[in-house]
Amino acid sequence: MKIGIVGSGAMGSGIAQTAAINGFETLIFDKNTEALQKAAETILNSISKLQSKQKLNFLQAENARKNILPINNLHEFEKCDLIIEAVIENLSVKKNVFEELETIVNSECIIATNTSSFTVTSIASACKNAQRVIGIHFFNPAYIMPLVEIIPALQTNQKTLQKASNFIKQLNKTQVLAKDTPGFIVNRIARPFYCESFKIYEEGIADFAEIDFALKTKGNFKMGPFELSDFIGHDVNYNVTESIWTSTYFDSRYKPSFCQKQLLNAGYLGKKTNKGFYDYQEGVIKNKNTIVDENLATLIFERVLAMLINEAAEALSTKNASINDIEIAIVKGLNYPRGLFNWANDFGIEKTVNILDLFYEKYKDSRYRCSYILREMNIKKTLFEF
Ligand SMILES: NC(=O)c1ccc[n+]([C@@H]2O[C@H](COP(=O)([O-])OP(=O)(O)OC[C@H]3O[C@@H](n4cnc5c(N)ncnc54)[C@H](O)[C@@H]3O)[C@@H](O)[C@H]2O)c1
Repeated sequence: MKIGIVGSGAMGSGIAQTAAINGFETLIFDKNTEALQKAAETILNSISKLQSKQKLNFLQAENARKNILPINNLHEFEKCDLIIEAVIENLSVKKNVFEELETIVNSECIIATNTSSFTVTSIASACKNAQRVIGIHFFNPAYIMPLVEIIPALQTNQKTLQKASNFIKQLNKTQVLAKDTPGFIVNRIARPFYCESFKIYEEGIADFAEIDFALKTKGNFKMGPFELSDFIGHDVNYNVTESIWTSTYFDSRYKPSFCQKQLLNAGYLGKKTNKGFYDYQEGVIKNKNTIVDENLATLIFERVLAMLINEAAEALSTKNASINDIEIAIVKGLNYPRGLFNWANDFGIEKTVNILDLFYEKYKDSRYRCSYILREMNIKKTLFEF
């Protein structure tokens, strides 16, 4: 099977490396030749590092190197069986790429998109044979993150889904099936982790370092929301939130935060610019282990957790994915310490409903509306079942 990757940025190069290491001849194209050259170097260096750490033996590394083929002309994709588009997140650019690819590839070739925020259906509409289009959503860094979301568009046929699924299996990744809705599974369910924490900060209830500290100590999250968004980059993180908010017709659950917008306005994009919520310049003392009042830490953690559980329950109620796939996506895509349904069972369905109702009463904001699934479970005194 011959693979084509369009776009050699962070995602395209990571996906290409994964495919090459797993034995696929992988053609990679970028319209920017410098970016393509840089990506090829990064992939080869990464393969060498894996070899020196003995994660790849000599033969595996040699084969992976041979499998990477940077190309300067999209027409060389002619014989590809599956192409993954990973160009910039711009709908018209993506649609143009799909339109052009369709004039080059054979009728059996699958064309996939790695988009984070557009519907696969809208991208597929650029193709005459839209049945061959599907979403294959990797996470960053693609060669490390174990999860892949597979998203059939409205137009996708069963054969395309089956072929895409077989390909992901051969990459040794865990796959989950997601409905083509804003944010799919992972990006949607993660929103309250950021948005609710940013709201707590904007309300002056606690400082950002305190909120991070509360979530790490009380919830065992590896990173707090402020650290994590600094790491991801506020441009990327804010745009995902804004895109989900607009695509859900301005549902207040996904409303972007002004404090994050201000970081964007200032050009403080996080770690990559040495400043975000935290200051990463050398010599600056980091204030990451702020001691917060135990009760305050518990209140912060429980408020954010209740919102996360509610979002997962909502995703389940709208049949975004199966209960097992949502649980897998949370642990493998978000790296949370536990799946949210399992967590909800221990934390308490009644407690979750009460927290949501309390905030709904306080703010009269539909952001805090409790999912009917949780409300019903609370009445019947049932738990999530897997
Ligand atoms: N970065 C992430 O964390 C992440 C995670 C999952 C999915 N995604 C999605 O993956 C896609 C790529 O993201 P990225 O972070 O790798 O972006 P990036 O900016 O690092 O790379 C994009 C690349 O696309 C190239 N490009 C632009 N227009 C092109 C065209 N017409 N033809 C060929 N190449 C073109 C650019 O030169 C650039 O090298 C986006 O859709 C993004 O939403 C990103």
